[in-house]
Amino acid sequence: MNGKEVILGVTGGIAAYKSAELVRLLMEDDILVKVAMTKSATKFVTPLTFEALSGESVIHDMFGQEGTAIDHIQWGQESDLIIIAPATANFIGKMAHGIGDDFLSTCVLAATAKILVCPSMNTRMFENPAVQENLDLLKKRGFIIMEPGQGALACGTEGPGRLPEPDEILQQARKLLSDQDLSGLKILITAGPTTEPIDPVRYISNRSSGKMGYALARAATLRGADVILVSGPTDLNPPPGLNFCQVITAEDMRRSVFENRSGCDIIIKAAAVSDYRPRDHAAQKIKKGPESLSLELVKNPDILTELGSTIEEFPAVLVGFAAETEDLVANAEKKLKSKNLDMIVANDVSSKDAGFETDTNRVKIIYSDGRVDDSPLMTKDKVADLVLDRAKAIREAGLEG
Ligand code: PMT
Repeated sequence: MNGKEVILGVTGGIAAYKSAELVRLLMEDDILVKVAMTKSATKFVTPLTFEALSGESVIHDMFGQEGTAIDHIQWGQESDLIIIAPATANFIGKMAHGIGDDFLSTCVLAATAKILVCPSMNTRMFENPAVQENLDLLKKRGFIIMEPGQGALACGTEGPGRLPEPDEILQQARKLLSDQDLSGLKILITAGPTTEPIDPVRYISNRSSGKMGYALARAATLRGADVILVSGPTDLNPPPGLNFCQVITAEDMRRSVFENRSGCDIIIKAAAVSDYRPRDHAAQKIKKGPESLSLELVKNPDILTELGSTIEEFPAVLVGFAAETEDLVANAEKKLKSKNLDMIVANDVSSKDAGFETDTNRVKIIYSDGRVDDSPLMTKDKVADLVLDRAKAIREAGLEG
């Protein structure tokens, strides 16, 4: 999100303290954050808190010394997004009826940026027809309204009215700040390891954390695609806004992939599927016994090979990953050909900063026409965008040809 600018408008509600966390999260995403507060918001949290977190002056007085005379015009026209969080019933009313009586409300009136409104108030206030009609008016005018969370509120009531969690607001902001260039595409992504049971307490698996596959799923969702994430067991939370299918074994993953493949435009297999599984799965825990114990393994189905051999029935751009510890390009090229792929993303998993478990990856992308793209060490989020760019280009070239 480097280079993006967000104005965070904080209005006077108890949830204003959560906006401090939102500033931190936005900044972690390399977003420049400028904060404007209403006078009542400063009663809940001081401008100094936001100044310290954002590193920028906070404007809370139209006629104060913090900014210039035309900041209220420039801020909303030069930024990419305005987030009003928390948005009180009073401020929602002002926005709906064109009232500009302080810095933030005049900034909203003059804004050309998208505006995300995150209501937060007592349940009775939120359900009041006046507030609901004001929200409807704003929706009609193109404001994006987040549904408030449900639960126990600071005022002692239960119901809708909680400010959505900062992380949910961040996800929505990321989406609004991203180009929707994958909108209309259905993309199936696999992630994580598969685990193959030996008995009720033991299994065979591998070191995949799911980070690479989840980064792909998150990026594709933010870019507007309709995403199905088929994931083996991981410690990660599924990114919001996609269809999530939890699987355990390679057989489960195969079933889920084939159930969901119809209508997919792009399929990306980042999962590390166990090539073998124990022939027998003991019903009870295997007891300690002789000095050595042999485990007979049988081959698992190769999901990607099956997809590649039936691609004409279900046309989609087919992308594999290759986890290699030697002869990276030569081994990946063999997989590209034998599995009938459009491209393969090869990573050297013996490296400390790439492959399994890391937040970064270094990949070579190999295409079916023999071209090889070499990329430097990048975050898995950036690798994900690169892989999606390339898969999209292959799809577009296929449609033209
Ligand atoms: O999850 P992380 O910790 O972030 O790590 C990321 C990663 C290293 C797992 C990922 O970048 C990666 O390389 N994924 C593929 C791992 C792998 O299984 O590679 P492979 O070379 O064994 O398999 C080649 C391709 O065939 C893969 O797309 C794999 O999903 C697919 N395959 C393999 C075996 C099998 N039985 N069925 C398959 O579909």
